Amino acid sequence: MSTAHPRRVFVLGGANTAFIGKGHPDFVWKNHADFGKRENPTIEEHLATAVADAFTTTGVDPERVDKGYIGNFVGELFCQQGHLGAALAGCHPGLAGKAMTRVEAACASGGLALASAIDAIRAGNDTVLVAGVEVQTTVSAREGADYLARASHYRRQRSIDEFTFPALFGRRTKAYRERYGVTEEDIGRVAVKAYANANKNPLAHMKARKMDLATAAAAGDRNPCFLQHPEYAPFIKMSDCSQVSDGASACLVVSEAGLRAAGKTPADAIEIVGYGHSTASLYEDGDLTQLWTTKAAAEKAYAVAGIVPKDVQVAEVHDCFTVTELLMLEAVGFADPGQGAALVRDGVTNIDGALPVNTGGGLVGFGHPVGATGVKQAVEIWKQMKGRSGAYQMPSAPGIGLTANMGGDDRTVMVTLYRNAG
Ligand code: CAA
Repeated sequence: MSTAHPRRVFVLGGANTAFIGKGHPDFVWKNHADFGKRENPTIEEHLATAVADAFTTTGVDPERVDKGYIGNFVGELFCQQGHLGAALAGCHPGLAGKAMTRVEAACASGGLALASAIDAIRAGNDTVLVAGVEVQTTVSAREGADYLARASHYRRQRSIDEFTFPALFGRRTKAYRERYGVTEEDIGRVAVKAYANANKNPLAHMKARKMDLATAAAAGDRNPCFLQHPEYAPFIKMSDCSQVSDGASACLVVSEAGLRAAGKTPADAIEIVGYGHSTASLYEDGDLTQLWTTKAAAEKAYAVAGIVPKDVQVAEVHDCFTVTELLMLEAVGFADPGQGAALVRDGVTNIDGALPVNTGGGLVGFGHPVGATGVKQAVEIWKQMKGRSGAYQMPSAPGIGLTANMGGDDRTVMVTLYRNAG
């Protein structure tokens, strides 16, 4: 796609549910006062809430939806529920009979649902519903790690550790720290920012949990290393991990005609001015100190949008682990290799910094219901651009934004660029 394309694409708005799981005050778990008295929301309930809120927020009539796409990774395993396109159609009577499709690309499922919607608008549709959902707390984190390991090359990589993904990113943390001399404190600052931002976000999984640098930068009783792998264990603590969260996100992607049909103008929306989608082989591991697939996706997105990294004023990047945020900052061109930590250390990526990143808390603080994450990122950029981020609103609404959503260990990546159409 390019800006020269005759059909412009807009995000008219959207909504996220609360992302909840262990550590969230409303999440019912063994020692919770409500244990045995009420259940946590189901996958159907999370999805219905996000979709209903997206329609309410945008004022779009569900009858006007041409198509819908839903990102979900492993509903069959966590919830015994597949066929989620039909679940999306079931969210409102006005959606019955519409063309609905589930999209799966591991943790990039939501991002690729968004890509599908952009393509659908380019192809002539006017109003497309995009949703993402995952409910992961139906089993323990250890059992869930086996499900999430399906995003790796399971036959080759599952045995690295019972917590496969934390181990794969422990491996990256080790390689990155050793190559660039990045300290544990540098990595810890990413977690401190994530939790501080989440503390300002009423929808965040970690809205009530504090994180200080002393805790984040050294393993201890409150923040243990938990891998069995002897080489990688020291490089991943609890605070370095994204959360095992339940939640859903939804947004409406529209053409200019779709805007008019909703009684809106470009000033009510944000425009998608480019995207890049790159995929690497599941069977090979590249340089552990860089995210090459993310870099390739970002370069495609910048080229079609006619934007350069220094133009970007707000970003949502896929911090599945703390080191991933640093690697992402480098891969999308905000910092040279090995220099991502300096941006965090200097406060550049804080809410009041020159380039705020993951203002709602990111995957570490806001949470990571994996199929929802790519859609949540787009909703978060829309909220910042339209001044709807409440206590975590940037001092002035940004003009250009970026999202980077990653599946697996940098295997599938969707990078999207947005312009504040106001
Ligand atoms: N010392 C050693 N081990 C300890 C410990 C301590 N003090 N405290 C806890 N542990 C171990 C325990 O063995 C425990 O396992 P059991 O439940 O079997 O006993 C394990 O750590 C988990 O502990 P908790 O149950 O107390 O913690 P939790 O449920 O809050 O989980 C977490 C914490 C393991 C970090 C979990 O949040 C997690 O797995 N996060 C990562 C999720 C993930 O990998 N998501 C995918 C990201 S990758 C991506 O985005 C791309 C893609 O496509 C997949």
